[in-house]
Amino acid sequence: MAAKHNPRKILVTSALPYANGSIHLGHLVEYIQTDIWVRFQKMQGHTVHYVCADDTHGTPIMLRAEKEGITPEALIANVHKEHSADFAEFLVAFDNYYSTNAPENKELSQGIYNKLKAAGKIATKTIEQYYDPVKNMFLPDRFIKGECPKCHAKDQYGDSCEVCGATYNPTELINAYSAVSGAAPIRKETEHYFFKLSECEGFLKEWTRSEAFDGKPTLQGEAANKMGEWFESGLNDWDISRDAPYFGFEIPDAPGKYFYVWLDAPIGYMASFKKLCADSGLDFDEYWNKDSSTELYHFIGKDILYFHALFWPATLEFSGYRKPTKIFSHGFLTVNGEKMSKSRGTFITARSYLEHIKNPEYLRYYYAAKLNSSMEDIDLSLDDFVARVNSDLVGKFINIASRTAGFINKRFDGKLRSAANNKVVAELKLSANTIAEAYETREYGRALREIMRLADSANGYVAEAAPWVMAKQEGQDSALQQACSDALEMFRLLTLYLKPVLPKLASDIEQFLNIAPLSWASVEDSLADNHSINAYEHLIIRIDPKLIEALTEANKENLEATPQVAAPLLEKVVVKALAEPILTEAEYISIDDFTKVDLRIAKIVNAEHVEGAEKLLKLTLDIGEASTRQVFAGIKSAYDPATLVGRLTVMVANLAPRKMKFGMSDGMVLAASDESGGPFILSPDAGAQLGMRVK
Ligand code: 2FM
Ligand code: ZN
Repeated sequence: MAAKHNPRKILVTSALPYANGSIHLGHLVEYIQTDIWVRFQKMQGHTVHYVCADDTHGTPIMLRAEKEGITPEALIANVHKEHSADFAEFLVAFDNYYSTNAPENKELSQGIYNKLKAAGKIATKTIEQYYDPVKNMFLPDRFIKGECPKCHAKDQYGDSCEVCGATYNPTELINAYSAVSGAAPIRKETEHYFFKLSECEGFLKEWTRSEAFDGKPTLQGEAANKMGEWFESGLNDWDISRDAPYFGFEIPDAPGKYFYVWLDAPIGYMASFKKLCADSGLDFDEYWNKDSSTELYHFIGKDILYFHALFWPATLEFSGYRKPTKIFSHGFLTVNGEKMSKSRGTFITARSYLEHIKNPEYLRYYYAAKLNSSMEDIDLSLDDFVARVNSDLVGKFINIASRTAGFINKRFDGKLRSAANNKVVAELKLSANTIAEAYETREYGRALREIMRLADSANGYVAEAAPWVMAKQEGQDSALQQACSDALEMFRLLTLYLKPVLPKLASDIEQFLNIAPLSWASVEDSLADNHSINAYEHLIIRIDPKLIEALTEANKENLEATPQVAAPLLEKVVVKALAEPILTEAEYISIDDFTKVDLRIAKIVNAEHVEGAEKLLKLTLDIGEASTRQVFAGIKSAYDPATLVGRLTVMVANLAPRKMKFGMSDGMVLAASDESGGPFILSPDAGAQLGMRVK
């Protein structure tokens, strides 16, 4: 191992979010975790570059753009803007936030592929895959649905069953259908390109057991164990190609074949850094050469360990680049002890949090308090979030300044005395290394416990000195000024320790204390005799628990979320029923029964005759989902298909898919009829949008 730089030169990444969805609280665990670490390292005086990008390629992004009627390039440009704004507001300070659909990434990906090929690590193989004969495309597993071969649940994905948890091959699904067009997929042969991972086992086993320059393992214990399991079950060659149509980079010398999104995604780390180098004059090779003495860290979720600990180091090794110094893998987020859920209102986007709670640093603080270096899941308990932020940040930390600054401002013209001889100040300074060590090893919970223990000491000091009592006594001026100055020096040190977590608050406090930006070395400084502080203004306020209720209400995705609509409706029905009963009690359904039927505004994007069907038309309906629905409707006698295309109507969206003679029918269109005529399909009033719920 080459000698390390001192100060260290460090390149840090977080996983690249897909460019077809919003950033939510689950994503933010990782970006906040990484950002805290980066800010801490920068405060240590090291040279740190933090890069990320949108992960833009693949079938889901291609299809989503198609559904929105825009190009993939337009879609990813929109999402890039949205993601960048979310990250900036959560104070996640990338040095570059790029896109995998960038020229640097294309060049690097093709270059790496060529080097792997020259090293004999690429093979081709003809495989059989499901193909959508209507859409003329090969189908990724996630876009094939059908009946689970184990428990026979309908409408399950091609790789696993959400009902019984079984995993299988798409070819095992019963009555498989394409989630894109609804057509029954056919099997078709195609040539694919593979990275010979099976030949990399020796290298990967050694890498798994390796140590970084600091003598600490490259992988966390749990991650190394997981690798052991993968080695035991044997490494398969990795399929790195996809057939057109595909949104991605074409493979050199293989027209119509594209790199699988996961091939160019991690190379996006390099590409983002390459762009940073071009913009700021850094040396790309210094960081990526095989014998680089710089450090490279990837923060990731445990679900993508396979890609980062097997494919990625092998890709780098056999294309002549350096390997990651360490991989830092974290667990998933639960909210109130459960998976984030749309029906409980706990699937919360970054934007929705900002709209309701406003202050991003509350969440940064709470996550930091929960984070450690393990791969365990972390829980955001919303009640605990309010309690912890209010008691720690406002009750303990800010309290120190709010109880003392006013006296300095009003009685001493903003002037301090040196706190050099205070024992509590000395105690606070002594903890600097313990806290630094906790940040360095990503034991943020431990760091914050130590910092809050010190805040307790500082508050104990203030309570004992009782400046508010001294202020009323004659001849206590000097003692009052000293006690308040001591407290503000403690406050300065606590601010320094909290700065990686709370950068905005720390900057406001630096302004209030009238000091230069704090770095870790500022532990050694002190607020000097006669130093003037600025007027104290409120720094943060308590979280009102009502904001949490509003936040979860706003994120609920069913009728429970809108009692203001549902309740009056219920009332009217009840009143009417009492006044003039038209049904016997047994015949009523409850509002709960009614809400089981998921009625949606659907746009008829296609309508056609079905060969051999007397009554049916085949409709393709868009209700704003990832793919359209195919429904057979008995309306042929009344409608010319051409007149239906483009119309809005109402469909039952949660009717179990039915296999009909002519194919799968995934829902039902509502129509009125009786002896006198029909069927008449329903139309919503002007203004209704596709996907809206009818209730
Ligand atoms: O799992 C995901 O969300 C991927 N978009 C992460 C990619 S990380 C890196 F390898 F690009
Ligand atoms: Zn099943």
